[in-house]
Amino acid sequence: MAPGAHADVLVIGGGIIGLAVAWRAAQRGPGNVVVVDPTPGGGAARVAAGMLAPVTELQYGEEPLLRLGMASNERYAAFAAELTEASGGLDTGYRQCGTLAVALDSDDREELRELHAFHQRLGLNSTWLTGREARKLEPMLAPGVRGGLHVADDHQVDGRRLLKALLAACERANVALHRTEAVELLVEDGRAVGARLGTGETLTAEQVVLAAGPHSHLLPGLPEGVLPAIRPVKGQILRLRIPEAYRPFLSRNVRAVVRGRHLYLVPREDGELVIGATTEEQGYDTTVTAGGVYELLRDAHELVPGITELPLVETSAGLRPGSPDNAPLLGPTGLPGLVAATGHYRNGVLLAPVTADLVAEYLATGEVPELARPFAPTRFSPARSTTKAVA
Ligand code: GLY
Repeated sequence: MAPGAHADVLVIGGGIIGLAVAWRAAQRGPGNVVVVDPTPGGGAARVAAGMLAPVTELQYGEEPLLRLGMASNERYAAFAAELTEASGGLDTGYRQCGTLAVALDSDDREELRELHAFHQRLGLNSTWLTGREARKLEPMLAPGVRGGLHVADDHQVDGRRLLKALLAACERANVALHRTEAVELLVEDGRAVGARLGTGETLTAEQVVLAAGPHSHLLPGLPEGVLPAIRPVKGQILRLRIPEAYRPFLSRNVRAVVRGRHLYLVPREDGELVIGATTEEQGYDTTVTAGGVYELLRDAHELVPGITELPLVETSAGLRPGSPDNAPLLGPTGLPGLVAATGHYRNGVLLAPVTADLVAEYLATGEVPELARPFAPTRFSPARSTTKAVA
């Protein structure tokens, strides 16, 4: 479909959320789906470690988000398998490895003990281990590790492979990819009706899905108050390579509280080891800094001293899209014709399957699925407020 034409569904933003929604929308109907993005397959998921960790990343007061995250985690195996088939055989790096979350000093252990107690109150699958038991699972851990949690159902996927597979699946499902910017949302008679593109052409649409991460609220033409500001939260991250002779090195995701700072190490089956991530609120800056790299290496070295032997192959930084309550915006907005799929903050990779299913269902039926209701984009507008997502 050439720009200037009409789409049934126009998705603005071709990161992991936009592509997953476009793929599912093309499968379900109605009609033709277009994605507009100058670099589809980019965004935060290209940088992310790809931990699928609804239980070990749980924060107090975020039970609705936990339900959504667990629902997505449960869908992941089937989602990844279907995507591999739909993309013509591309592997997503989905790995059911579980996660070990460990503590380095007694304060860190107290923090994890509280998390474990919270897990138990919620009936989650989470087992307390002594330091010795943790090191038995992961012998590369420092002798000083003071204990931790084993969560057998928090897994991993490779965000870059996933994006590649989603792009291929979209193309095979006849999703049209326009490699240009959406420079203006077109609104007529109080309804979103399409977008003006960077090429100067216009594309009209029955429904517009805004999936532009931390740029979502900045789209010119978007009426004031329809979306809250989505703040960019920078994460710096490292990629190391585990030589064959050192493997497995680590057998599962390892998270840690290191003197109050949070860190994670995600070992992939292909030998990549991802170490992340900083959390910085400094606007739209994605500079990799010496301080960011130093802090990650310092804490990772304290946790797993052997990492200093490994080649450091990449440093990068991405922007997490944070909504005011850190939960995503899913479904119809206060502007008829405009649907949001944004604000996934730390959970974009995890929440991609469930977001795609829920938004595609809404696009096809006009009904907001029950699971999406706590995440109504209208919750930030007092006049239209429904259920608050995060207490
Ligand atoms: N979910 C991991 C992160 O945002 O750093």
